[in-house]
Amino acid sequence: MADERAPQVSMDTIVSLSKRRGFVFQGSELYGGLANTWDYGPLGTEMRRNIKDLWWQRFVHQRANIVGMDGSILLNPRVWEVSGHVSEFNDPEIDCRVCNSRFRADTLIEDRVGINADGKSVEELNALITEHEIKCPTCGNYDWTPARKFNLMFQTQIGPVDESATEVYLRPETAQSIFMQYRNIQLSSRQRIPFGVAQIGKAFRNEVTPGNFIFRLLELEQMEIEYFIDGDNWEPVFEEWLEEQQAFVRSLGISAEHLRAREHEPDELSHYSKRTVDLEYLFPFGWKELTGLAYRGDYDLRMHQEGSGTNLTYFDQANDRHFIPHVVEPTFGVDRLLLIVLIESYAEEETVDANGKASSRTVMRFVPEVAPYKVAVLPLSRKPELAGTAGEVFDKVRERYVAEYDETQNIGRRYRRQDEIGTPLCVTVDFDTLDDNAVTVRDRDTMEQVRVPISELLPTLDEQLNKMSARLLG
Ligand code: GAP
Repeated sequence: MADERAPQVSMDTIVSLSKRRGFVFQGSELYGGLANTWDYGPLGTEMRRNIKDLWWQRFVHQRANIVGMDGSILLNPRVWEVSGHVSEFNDPEIDCRVCNSRFRADTLIEDRVGINADGKSVEELNALITEHEIKCPTCGNYDWTPARKFNLMFQTQIGPVDESATEVYLRPETAQSIFMQYRNIQLSSRQRIPFGVAQIGKAFRNEVTPGNFIFRLLELEQMEIEYFIDGDNWEPVFEEWLEEQQAFVRSLGISAEHLRAREHEPDELSHYSKRTVDLEYLFPFGWKELTGLAYRGDYDLRMHQEGSGTNLTYFDQANDRHFIPHVVEPTFGVDRLLLIVLIESYAEEETVDANGKASSRTVMRFVPEVAPYKVAVLPLSRKPELAGTAGEVFDKVRERYVAEYDETQNIGRRYRRQDEIGTPLCVTVDFDTLDDNAVTVRDRDTMEQVRVPISELLPTLDEQLNKMSARLLG
């Protein structure tokens, strides 16, 4: 059962740590930025790769009946007409006539009066804004244009603009690439139902609502599975995927108290969905969608069969029957997963050193599997005597782990930096190392240090990383 305890860290703290340490930077910062775009720095990039690799391993490599694909971002515009996105993939937007600020009408209502207005018609939204006399959050005036539908797909052209250019859309979900290739994949990989197709890739949405850092982006990355089934049997499959989604999110070190499942109301459902359950996370700005799980029925394949005139039925040999498969669709957003890992892992602590001196530290308690670096190798000083051995230790460590070498500043500061970027283990090479061929391994969370012969370093690191994962994942 989820509780109402908000994680104590503020978004400002996460944004500034992300910039200072190189997780996430504002997009186009030199030119004043571009709203709702961010760039991932060295550490954020490593973490996103880890999240995607863990997902791929779990859902593709460890399952015999899920295969991968990598589709293009530009699709034939007919895809989006037939899928219903041209007519239905809209948000209701509203403008303040005084200061020209633009908002999503449903989120404005939700933020101001706490009513879930997702899926309400523009008429209902206008009525709610009038009833509650909702004022502009920017300038405080009450003078709105009527709410109107705004299509979220980005458009561009193929070919010279001044001639007969073709208008195309950047895909707003990766799913349609899978439906386009469903038949080729099923035939070429000889999968039998039930089977899934997984894809990790970029999607684009012309979002109106301000972003809350990397929560709501114009350019996002999705990890989606279309799981093709015989429609009669969708409910247990849906429940299984809900559990699988939670298990994956928990494996990134997210506590159960900060997660809850929320069923969509009928008027909130996307045009293609018969049932949707979001997994929500308790962000510093409230409970918000983290992942989605939709039962799309046979909507997409049926529409594309009609739209393209190509037979998309599946032949069930055992029962000598042709049918259009139904789909259960678990979707994850890479950017939101990274964001919650940053929020959830953040801790500030008081510490006391061996001499009884108190100080405080910031530590990112990442599970080792998602941490950007697993190990840092730190020579105690920059003296040339240590450099050779420290370099050899680093070479040995990085054969197995993504690791960092740091010889700047005093050792205390370097430990603090590694704590703040969430490196699970630090290996220190000191002057004794030159005599005893041993190094010190320090645990990020307990700050305990053990002396280990260099010959046993790799198995010790393995063991300590496994212990840390087990401790954090309970
Ligand atoms: N194919 C189904 C689909 O796209 P969705 O609920 O619209 O469903 C799925 O999106 C997931 O993609 C969300 O749960 C979220 O993690 C992520 N997502 C959607 N819009 C986003 C945005 N503007 N910025 C960042 N992530 C987003």
